[in-house]
Amino acid sequence: MKTYERLLLENKAWAKGKVDGDPEYFHRLSQLQTPEFLWIGCSDSRVPANEITNTQPGEIFVHRNVANMVVHTDVNLLSVLDFAVSHLKVKHVIVCGHYGCGGIKAAMTNHDYKQVLNMWLRNIKDVYRLHRTELDACPDEESKFDRLVELNVKEQVMHLVKTSIIQRAWKNEQRPDIHGWVYGLKDGIINPVFEMKAGTHIDPLYEYDDL
Ligand code: CO
Repeated sequence: MKTYERLLLENKAWAKGKVDGDPEYFHRLSQLQTPEFLWIGCSDSRVPANEITNTQPGEIFVHRNVANMVVHTDVNLLSVLDFAVSHLKVKHVIVCGHYGCGGIKAAMTNHDYKQVLNMWLRNIKDVYRLHRTELDACPDEESKFDRLVELNVKEQVMHLVKTSIIQRAWKNEQRPDIHGWVYGLKDGIINPVFEMKAGTHIDPLYEYDDL
C-alpha cells in the first residue's frame, strides 16, 4: 500500500466510527459551522489545532502558515480573518506559536533561504529588531530562541489589533478577545503569553476614529 493510500483507508474508518457513534454527525455538521474560535497557527505538522485542544470538527476555524505570522499584505490571512470575525462572528482569536519553531530559528540565522522564504522570514527579523535589547540580554541561544517565539506571538496579536477588521468588531460588538499562546513540543502544554481583550487601546497611531 502506498503511504497516501493509508490516509484514504483511515478516512473511511474514521467516518464510519463517527457515524456509528452518532448517525446524524455529518448531516448536522454539513448544515452549519458556528466555531467560537479562530486559530492562527504554525504549519508545523506537530501542532494540529484540533488535536492539541481536544476539539472536534466545527469548533475551530483555522489558518496556518510558517511561524504563525500576521502579515498586513497577506490576502489569504486577511480573508480568513475577515470571514471569521465579520461573518462567523468568532468570540476569540488565538495566535498559537510553538517552542522549537523552525521558521523562528531560520530567521535567527544569516542564511540565504532564497527569495520567497527570505521575504517571509524578514517579518520575524523585524520582531527581533523591535526587541533586540531584551533578546540580546538572554543568557544563552536556547532562551533567546524561546523568548523570540513568545515575542513573535505577541507582535502578531498586535498586528491583528492594527486591522480595521478587529477594530470595527471591537467597537460594534465588543469581541473578539485575542490570545497569544505558545505550545510546547516537548510536553504538549500550551503556555498563554499575551492577551488583548476586546476594546483595549493601542498606540493611537494605529487606531481608526471613523470606523
Ligand atoms: Co513553527
